[in-house]
Amino acid sequence: MSVPVPADAASVRQAAALLRDGEVVALPTETVYGLAADATNATAVERIFAIKGRPADHPLIVHLLDADALDAWAIEIPEEARVLAGAGWPGPLTIVLRRAPSVLDVVTGGLDTVALRVPAHPVARAVLVEFGGAFAAPSANRFGRVSPTTAAAVADDLGDEVGFILDGGACRVGVESTIVDCSGDTTVVLRPGGVTVERISELLDRPVAIGGTTRAPGTLPAHYAPDARVVIADDREAATVAAAHLAEGRTVALLASTVPMGLSDRVAVLEPPETDEEYARVLYDRLRTADHHGIEVVVAVPPNPVGIGLAVRDRLERAAASA
Ligand code: TXA
Ligand code: MG
Repeated sequence: MSVPVPADAASVRQAAALLRDGEVVALPTETVYGLAADATNATAVERIFAIKGRPADHPLIVHLLDADALDAWAIEIPEEARVLAGAGWPGPLTIVLRRAPSVLDVVTGGLDTVALRVPAHPVARAVLVEFGGAFAAPSANRFGRVSPTTAAAVADDLGDEVGFILDGGACRVGVESTIVDCSGDTTVVLRPGGVTVERISELLDRPVAIGGTTRAPGTLPAHYAPDARVVIADDREAATVAAAHLAEGRTVALLASTVPMGLSDRVAVLEPPETDEEYARVLYDRLRTADHHGIEVVVAVPPNPVGIGLAVRDRLERAAASA
């Protein structure tokens, strides 16, 4: 069982050396913790899939130090992608582009596109500088489960499989990056995330479409699931929904930014986030807390689907679809 190592100059050098040796390391990004391997080493990248139990046809995001590396990984880069990269990087934004011929099939899942992101987290950036290359990294959780936002959560989930976990503290954003597909005729948001859709539209100076049909596990209806069953309710019905589950003999917790009137005192109230940003930051941690307490049903009142609230709602809906 590996114990997280605090990030400092020495441990960052060690992580980079492990990447060069074809090993997999867990490290923090500003969104969630990632499970990183040298994106140009097929054997190393295959290890990620084995560790996560992730199907081979689910592509990974390649993490770059800066936008200068774009042309080494992608071709036919449209102007809109340059605009998004220029304004959104480093940051919680992933851009899907037509892949350069050299990009490994194991990274793209055989697609002719590649997902690229320049992370903002100082530890991820320090590893990229020291490593000198690019790393492919999915979230550092078992496939289909809740993403980790602390090193301890990575150790809980994958501590037996991952030899090195770099601890850079709790993630600032808390939900995964926004994925924008710029590889087709129209730019489309495939996954809402850390950069708001409103911000993407503002940068492109026009409304941007959400959705798309590209295969992506983060876009499967059921994903991001804790052990507890997640049930979505609005503020007015949450107390009634909770009472119904209590009546069935289940242990119930509430995740909401305000405690609804009439809530039974037998419902465990997960510490309420005060803003939508905080909701995003603490979402996965609260779901893990519910699991640690053996909660069977989490009644969740999502934020309004605007700004970062859209990403929070999206993850809760996918968690609820897994029930
Ligand atoms: O914030 C994040 O994006 C985190 C951190 C670690 O960077 N990473 C992350 O990776 O969430 P993962 O593997 O859990 O989710 C990556 C998503 C998946 O839904 C995958 O299908 C999609 O990106 N993706 C990757 N390559 C793609 C491509 N070529 N076309 C469309 N979607 C792609
Ligand atoms: Mg993931």
